[in-house]
Amino acid sequence: MADETRHARDCFALAQRYLGYAVGPGALPMHQALQETTLEEIVRLTVREGCIGETCAALEAAEACEATVDPDVKTVLEKIRADELRHAELAWRFVSWALTEAASTGDAQARLRRMVRAEFASAAEEVAVASVIVEGSRAPADGGFDSLPHGVVPNALLPEIRRRAMLDIVLPCAEGLLSSLAGASDQETAPVARANA
Ligand SMILES: [Fe+2]
Repeated sequence: MADETRHARDCFALAQRYLGYAVGPGALPMHQALQETTLEEIVRLTVREGCIGETCAALEAAEACEATVDPDVKTVLEKIRADELRHAELAWRFVSWALTEAASTGDAQARLRRMVRAEFASAAEEVAVASVIVEGSRAPADGGFDSLPHGVVPNALLPEIRRRAMLDIVLPCAEGLLSSLAGASDQETAPVARANA
C-alpha cells in the first residue's frame, strides 16, 4: 500500500512537471472496498489483482521504462517496475500458501484449487477476446500523440502486453503451481488454458 501511494505521488509530480501547474488526487472512494472476507474471496481477488494485475503492471512499467527518453520518468518507472514485480511475487506466494496450508480440509483445498484454475482460465479467455476486439477495431493512436517515450503506454498497446503477460508468465506459473500440489487429481493438473498464440 505504501508503494502504491509513493507511485501515485511520483506520477502526480511528473504530471505537474509536464503540465506546469499543480495536480493531485481527489478523495478515494472507499465504499465497497475490502468487502471480501472469506478465504475463497480473498484468493480469487488475489489471483485477479495480484497474480494477473500486478504481473501486467510490471510488464507495462517495463515497456514504458524501455521506451522513455526522459531521465526523470525513467527513474520513476524503474522503481515502479521493481515494486510491481515484488507485488506480483507476493500474490503468487500468498495463493500458493492458501492452496497448501490455509484450507483446513482436503475438500476445502480441492474446492479452492478448482476455483483458482477456473479464475485463471476465464482471465485467459478474456484476454484472447480483448485481442480480437482491438485487432478488429484498429484502434487509432491516442490523439495522434506518441506517449510511450514519455512513459505512458498507449491504450492500443495494452491488450498485447496483457496477452503476453498471460501467455509467457501467468499461465505457465499457474500450471506450475497447480500441478505441483499434492493431492491434485489428473483433471486438476491438466493445462489451465490453451495458449492463444
Ligand atoms: Fe502494485
